[in-house]
Amino acid sequence: MNQTFWFNLNSTNQELSQAEVEEVFRQEGFHWSRDKKGGFHLYQLDRSPTTQILNRLGGTIWVSQEIDKASNLEIIQEKVEVVSQEELKKHSFKRFALWFYDNSKYDPQASQFLSQELKPKINLSYLNFRQPRLSHKQLQFNLILVIIKHKKTFYLLKLIWYYPWESFIWKDKSKIFIQPTAGMLPHKLSRMMVNLSLPTSPSKLPSGYYLLDPFAGSGTILIEALDQGIPVVGIEKNPTAFAGLKTNLNHLADNVQTKTKYQLYQGDASRLHRIVKEKIIAVATEPYLGPAFRWRTNRYQKKYLTTSQHPDKHIDQKQITEIVNNLEKLYYLWLKHQALILKPEIKVVVIFPLLHFHERFYRIKLIDNHHLEGYTLYQGPFVIKSQRDLAVRRQILILRKK
Ligand SMILES: C[S@@+](CC[C@H](N)C(=O)[O-])C[C@H]1O[C@@H](n2cnc3c(N)ncnc32)[C@H](O)[C@@H]1O
Repeated sequence: MNQTFWFNLNSTNQELSQAEVEEVFRQEGFHWSRDKKGGFHLYQLDRSPTTQILNRLGGTIWVSQEIDKASNLEIIQEKVEVVSQEELKKHSFKRFALWFYDNSKYDPQASQFLSQELKPKINLSYLNFRQPRLSHKQLQFNLILVIIKHKKTFYLLKLIWYYPWESFIWKDKSKIFIQPTAGMLPHKLSRMMVNLSLPTSPSKLPSGYYLLDPFAGSGTILIEALDQGIPVVGIEKNPTAFAGLKTNLNHLADNVQTKTKYQLYQGDASRLHRIVKEKIIAVATEPYLGPAFRWRTNRYQKKYLTTSQHPDKHIDQKQITEIVNNLEKLYYLWLKHQALILKPEIKVVVIFPLLHFHERFYRIKLIDNHHLEGYTLYQGPFVIKSQRDLAVRRQILILRKK
């Protein structure tokens, strides 16, 4: 029997979140259909997603199960009363909230009904329906009932899972070695990249295969893979970063007591065919994205770009082009040599930079010119939302070995 779930992709990167959710469904063997309503994605699934499966997700998502639907609010009101009584019996905490969402359109009648009639009757706290998303605090301390209005129908939903943001924030802060100048890849993005790269559920991966990160840095991607029980191989060229990487993964192994295997190599990703001996099942990586840029303002309030290594040197257009060309060379060699060790259809989830300089974007032309020797572009690019004046923006691409 079909079951209906509403996935609210709170993420600012909606397309990426959607790709991740559907990739995890595919890996876990779900059949599904989807309908999109604003930030809500209505999924009909052939079975309930377990908490274990939902906990795999890295995107900022919350999931509700549909309890009922009706054409008017009075009928929904009766359902809310019944459901809230049932839930109060089941749970020791007595905090409930009702949240009304109508695709951001203001409906004064519905609003009045909820706040003046429904709320006093069932003693629920009522959240402001005009805010487009629920805050994590609200999700954490309340059992949320949600009413959604769509095409004149009211749906009553019960929250069954929300993004475990506390644990992800904790991970971002608790690594022993971090690389501030290399740009910190958040754990949630790393988690999404790992999920997007796998051919199947981590529990069904063939034994003896590894996920590869050839530009491992402090190991965020590797940690997110190990966290799901996936064996990993990491390469890192810089000696300081390599030592830090080892510290981070050893610390994880000691503290979480994971027995999942990891292999680390200090070396050059553009020669990885001579380094990696393991069989690779997936690749997820954030390569070197160029020097760390800084915007500065001179005394005439004009902005100029510098790098953290040379804070006094102004960067001009010619230098930006040169930086992009050098990055292209590195990526080209890495991908070409990596193709020698990958089996067909292996996915490579990679972050490429999008350099933003004086209102112009400088792209990695490998993608535009299809110079991806041995690969096809499978999905993306998904441009990651970032601050407006950031000189380097990230975009995620999913390549597939031919
Ligand atoms: C953007 S950082 C990766 C950050 C990583 N995702 C993390 O969570 O820390 C890129 C890393 O690639 C390393 N690197 C640069 N060139 C390399 C190469 N040719 N081979 C291997 N690693 C390289 C840099 O030292 C840097 O640590």
